[in-house]
Amino acid sequence: MSKESVGIDPKLHEYLVAHGVSRDDVLRDLEAETARLLPDLVEMQIAPEQGAFMTLLARLLGVRSAVEVGTFTGYSSVCVARGLAEGGRLLCCDVSEEFTAVARRYWERAGVADRIELRIAPAVRTLRALPAEPTIDLSFIDADKESYIDYWEELVPRTRPGGVILVDNVLFHGEVLNRGESELGKAVHAFNEHARADDRVELVMLPIADGLTLARKR
Ligand SMILES: C[S@@+](CC[C@H](N)C(=O)[O-])C[C@H]1O[C@@H](n2cnc3c(N)ncnc32)[C@H](O)[C@@H]1O
Repeated sequence: MSKESVGIDPKLHEYLVAHGVSRDDVLRDLEAETARLLPDLVEMQIAPEQGAFMTLLARLLGVRSAVEVGTFTGYSSVCVARGLAEGGRLLCCDVSEEFTAVARRYWERAGVADRIELRIAPAVRTLRALPAEPTIDLSFIDADKESYIDYWEELVPRTRPGGVILVDNVLFHGEVLNRGESELGKAVHAFNEHARADDRVELVMLPIADGLTLARKR
């Protein structure tokens, strides 16, 4: 048997979602509404199995303080907020009032609105304004790829020892291999090199959806 990760074709993915993810109407409706309102952008939304993984991870870590960089219409934030410990809080960073207006409605529907604070501003500015102490339990980086290293550099020192940083799209549709051709592929590859060389964390790159790096602060 090969040691490579399985390539997931649409039928196998359907099976994986049917058997490996418990998704309720809130997440189904959010996916459908995003596809209807923003058909060209819906692929920015995380995959259902990634959302389920993030909820479970937040629960396993007992997360009380979480940060999300790149909220869009709210799928990943609903998933993280649902996994927070009692009294836990999620800070969401985005630049779009339009996208996050949808997210706000779904936070209400999911019953997690009171655990979430949204800041509309370039995320680097929001992160730099956070206290310097290492208090964050879990963060998720999923905004503009060119700024991944900047987000990482703001989040690593603010993450508590044992806390986790998740980074999305680290395989970037395979474009990380064509380093000279795609600007975004190049940016993600540069981030991957940067993170791999960082002794402050131990990490694993998971072939879930478009590639998800899970980094644990030492
Ligand atoms: C890939 S989408 C996030 C998807 C989201 N995590 C989900 O599950 O639906 C990227 C988001 O990053 C936001 N964004 C882009 N540049 C940004 C910046 N400089 N600061 C904060 N957010 C930014 C975009 O407005 C968009 O909503």
